[in-house]
Amino acid sequence: MTPVTDHSPAQLDHIIDTLAEQGWVIDQTLFSKEDIRRLRDCCEAQWQDGRFHEAAVGRADQQGRRSEIRSDSVLWLDAAEAEPAIAHYFATLNQVRQAVNQAFYLGLEDLESHFAVYPPGSFYKKHLDRFRDDDARALTAVLYLNEDWPDEAGGQMRMYLDDACTQSLDVPPQAGTLVLFLSDRFWHEVLPASQQRLSVTGWFRRRQAGLAWPS
Ligand code: OGA
Ligand code: MN
Repeated sequence: MTPVTDHSPAQLDHIIDTLAEQGWVIDQTLFSKEDIRRLRDCCEAQWQDGRFHEAAVGRADQQGRRSEIRSDSVLWLDAAEAEPAIAHYFATLNQVRQAVNQAFYLGLEDLESHFAVYPPGSFYKKHLDRFRDDDARALTAVLYLNEDWPDEAGGQMRMYLDDACTQSLDVPPQAGTLVLFLSDRFWHEVLPASQQRLSVTGWFRRRQAGLAWPS
């Protein structure tokens, strides 16, 4: 088992500064090749075991399968999971969470994450990562697991950088690329890929004021 390495403040500082400046950042340093290989092995093993289910859209009672909107399959991860690759993923993003909280007082409390498998031809149409009735999701973290992903395979995440969606950036789902962005600000979509595409998607959640008891 690899020990949880302390990321040098410089790496986290860069993430924080860039998030402060533009609301999104792409990092290629927090996860090593080995970290990614182990996450990919774990994802593939669970996929082979048939543990994934087709992704739904919406929250709780409004959830439904909408294959015209998204056609990937997901497996939710347990933060208390003993599997070392997954524990290391949560420990690393926990360091990001703490740095973000110190810098922005966002009060991020936890991280909900799933593996996602996009079989060839699948996609996720343009959307925002925030439910209409729940604003707990504050910061999205997408980590890609695909070694040597060829450009011609498609499958980029197209991120729209302005509200009018006139400017966009295509991020290839290359192993080790971590994209962080404010969940309520950036529209994005997953373009169809010609190869199976693996990722871990997480959302840092804020405390939900509405759930607190009056004191
Ligand atoms: C999502 C999502 C982006 C990606 O799961 O909400 O937008 O690149 N994922 O996998
Ligand atoms: Mn999304």
